[in-house]
Amino acid sequence: MDAADVMDDLSEVLFTSDQIADRIAEVAAQIDADYEGREVLLIGVLNGAVMVMADLQRAMRSHVEMDWMAISSYGSGTQSSGVVRILKDLSVDIEDRHVIVVEDIIDTGLTLSYLMSNLASRNPASLEIMTMFRKPEAAEMDVPVRYVGFEIPNKFVVGVGLDYAGRYRNLKDLAILAPHVYA
Ligand code: PRP
Repeated sequence: MDAADVMDDLSEVLFTSDQIADRIAEVAAQIDADYEGREVLLIGVLNGAVMVMADLQRAMRSHVEMDWMAISSYGSGTQSSGVVRILKDLSVDIEDRHVIVVEDIIDTGLTLSYLMSNLASRNPASLEIMTMFRKPEAAEMDVPVRYVGFEIPNKFVVGVGLDYAGRYRNLKDLAILAPHVYA
């Protein structure tokens, strides 16, 4: 789905699919360089990270493995609830693995703050974060992020895996959702 397909629902396109693909390629090259000689395990946080995970891996030139976790935070609203619980745990043991957690967005940081302490207790060889988008103005927890695609304003955004009530995840661009859609 392109922004033109849902134009009436959007206030503004922040990044086009081409801009996002270019930035993912840069981040992938950085990860390749940083982890040369070490195989990375990417952990995606469902559901939002699906698109970024798929694109990031295919842009990388090194071997890479993936696994998934599902954690609840928002529900269908537009604000973080602070409620964090594991709905689906990893399938693999991450002890002594080089792990990068892949997210679509860091908003308040509550989700990743919880997740990082949970994963650190499993003794990975290293543990870093890649997020496609980050809202610095919304941060409530300071989460150390090694790889950031784009910093964005504190608006309700959809696309590139980010949804509103389950919709718009398949929008290829990142856009601000028009208030009339969720008001
Ligand atoms: C989103 C996003 C992050 C989290 C970030 O997930 O994918 O996991 O919120 O918010 P925070 O920094 O305020 O904790 P969401 O709970 O909406 O689930 P989804 O990935 O299935 O859309």
